[in-house]
Amino acid sequence: SFSEAEVQSARGAWEKMYVDAEDNGTAVLVRMFTEHPDTKSYFTHFKGMDSAEEMKQSDHVRGHGKRVFTAINDMVQHLDNTEAFLGILNPLGQKHATQLKIDPKNFRIICDIILQLMEEKFGGDCKASFEKVTNEICTHLTNIYK
Ligand code: HEM
Repeated sequence: SFSEAEVQSARGAWEKMYVDAEDNGTAVLVRMFTEHPDTKSYFTHFKGMDSAEEMKQSDHVRGHGKRVFTAINDMVQHLDNTEAFLGILNPLGQKHATQLKIDPKNFRIICDIILQLMEEKFGGDCKASFEKVTNEICTHLTNIYK
């Protein structure tokens, strides 16, 4: 669980990313698809996935980037309430495990890209403030597979 100070600094860090949720969510996905091309195999129904330039413009990628960031934002609003935090994360994890059949190693990959982008845009303190959140998300998502 998170201390009050951890909650405050994680929220402050995340707010910087979430101001541009669609652009930053899209940037995260484009980097995941470009640096880990096997992740594209889950999104074969998305159009415009042939190059990074195309992906950045794709309504599918942009919409999904926004959706992923909205889900994280909902979790960030409940860091001080484990039950509510897991109430958002568990159903999402169930869907990724059973319906979408995502290899859980990809959760660490996308979380590391989020942290990397935070560091590039807002610096090391911003990244450090959010690491515990991504760790919680990855741990719980991966535990659902066990
Ligand atoms: C769908 C969030 C990681 C693949 C979704 C949805 C959300 C979401 C909110 C929409 C769910 C719905 O419509 O009910 C997240 C979060 C992640 C994460 C918060 C980690 C921080 C991943 C990873 C992959 C992935 C690593 C694959 C490499 C998918 C796919 C869909 C999906 C294929 C369905 C997309 C569609 O057909 O529109 N995710 N996701 N997700 N996610 Fe994730």
